[in-house]
Parts: sequence; structure tokens; C-alpha cells
Amino acid sequence: MALKPIITLPDRRLRLKSEPVAAVDDEVRKLMDDMLETMYDAPGIGLAAIQIAVPKRVMVIDLARREDEQAPADPLFIANPEILWASEEESSYEEGCLSIPDYREEVFRPARIRFGFLDRQGKRQEMEADGLLATCVQHEIDHLNGVLFIDHISRLKRDRVLKKFNKSAKRVGDQPSAAG
Ligand code: NI
Repeated sequence: MALKPIITLPDRRLRLKSEPVAAVDDEVRKLMDDMLETMYDAPGIGLAAIQIAVPKRVMVIDLARREDEQAPADPLFIANPEILWASEEESSYEEGCLSIPDYREEVFRPARIRFGFLDRQGKRQEMEADGLLATCVQHEIDHLNGVLFIDHISRLKRDRVLKKFNKSAKRVGDQPSAAG
């Protein structure tokens, strides 16, 4: 396993639509393991492959260490997810994102979902989720479609966040030694 750098705003790759994997093979499992290690290290509760600059429809989630970093791991490995059903009822969470550091905002999403995916063995699974897991799955699937949680908040708030990240990127670019 290897830690990978997490890309952040205003990196345009965050807006890419990721491609499905043909199968969950050793290469995809290696990607999943790297993503999980990177996510635990951050620390975070969900990570999409595009956040480590890989445009594949792969994501990992683990809510077990949300309150206790020492808690036993309980990871969910997900490839090619699709939402099969979403409740009309919505719930809200104050969301954050490893690609938008130090910013949180309340987001409304369907409270319950059913989704299908390929697991780490490449086996097709269906799961129902509610609460934080439902939010997290929807947040990560959004990433696979180039959508960020700030796309679900008011335009005024979004513009303010984008401006802040564009500014700090410019400051880094001003340094003559900065590469790329
Ligand atoms: Ni995110």
C-alpha cells in the first residue's frame, strides 16, 4: 500500500467524469488499498479515486473510525456504483471534503438510498443505506461525476469558496520554485 497525494481545489481534474472499471482485478484492488490508506491517513471517511488523480469509478468508505481513530477498520470497497433508488425524504449533514480542506457546509440529500456496486472481489452487491452512510455514498458518487458538495449549496457561498481556493492557488504559483 502507498500513500497518494490528494488533489484539492482548484485542480480541474476534480471536474472529470470518471470511467467505469472493466473488472475488479489486482490493479483495481491495489488502487482501493492505496486509497484506503490515504483516506485513513488524511483522516477522512470516504475517498473517490479521482481525489488521488485516478479517473476511475472506484471509491472507499469507512465510517468506523469517525469518532475514534483507533477503532477497528470496517472498510467498504466500491467500484462502478449506481444509485438504484433514492427516498423523496431528505436529510442534511454538515459535509466536508478532503479536496476542499477546512470548509464545511450543510448539504441536503435523499435520506435513504439503495445502490448497486462491485465489491473488492468483483462480486455484484446491493446495499441500502441511511444516515451518514447514505450521505457519504452520494458524496463519493458525485465525485465520480465531477460534482463537488459545494455544487449543492447556494451560489453565493460556492462562489466565496471557489474564490478563496483560486486565490491561494495563485499565491503558490507566484513562488518561482513552484513546479507544475
Ligand atoms: Ni469529497
